[in-house]
Amino acid sequence: MVTVTINEREITAPAGSTILDAARDANIYIPSLCSNEELTPYGACRLCMVEIGSREKPKLVASCIYEVADGLEVRTETPRVNNVRRFVIELLLARNPDAPVLRKIADGLGVQDTRFKKRNKGCILCGQCVRTCREVVGVSAIGFKGRGVTRQVSTPFGESPVDCIACGSCSYICPVKVIPLKEENGVREIWKTKFELKKCKKCGRYFAPVKQLEYFSKITKLPKEHFEICLDCR
Ligand code: SF4
Ligand code: FES
Repeated sequence: MVTVTINEREITAPAGSTILDAARDANIYIPSLCSNEELTPYGACRLCMVEIGSREKPKLVASCIYEVADGLEVRTETPRVNNVRRFVIELLLARNPDAPVLRKIADGLGVQDTRFKKRNKGCILCGQCVRTCREVVGVSAIGFKGRGVTRQVSTPFGESPVDCIACGSCSYICPVKVIPLKEENGVREIWKTKFELKKCKKCGRYFAPVKQLEYFSKITKLPKEHFEICLDCR
């Protein structure tokens, strides 16, 4: 364990944890968007900036990727920190002006609107979908393409994603809900690709994409028949 000071309050935190983790454990709010405790730290959105070091020589760091260390001084609410966060949220609002999650953070920072040109891109490039697909699902069906203003999440070559198992995790995790997923007549559509859904042998309800169940069977080495019944009927 290490001892750090956050907003002049002494806190102990496990060595190797981030400032954001330590602050959360101590019920100290730091806004964040790209961080997710199930995923590797990414440091993309910069909303979680905090000030560290002495007041004479302060330094700004992204708290979701900066590890705690004994004696570290952290301040989460200085005028400089709040200015940076307001700037960042304005940039994000320019990409997606109506997302409730952004509006809520903006309200908390006293930001009503963005001074930047609204591009309505939808995606805020937090990378949670890409990391979830790779790190949690273990598939890597989607990734980033392009740089700067053209950067976007995409399937390989923008085509039907060969490795996608239609689990929908990317759509679920997206904080601004810009990955459409729809289901109709036994078919799930995601990434402009249609996937057949499996009907439960007992209740007759469509319950999961066939491709996802085949993937489960492969990684668990359980026979395909094991996945013919939905969870409710087990
Ligand atoms: S699609 Fe959603 S989850 Fe993926 S990077 Fe964009 S905002 Fe984040
Ligand atoms: S939450 Fe830290 S950079 Fe996004």
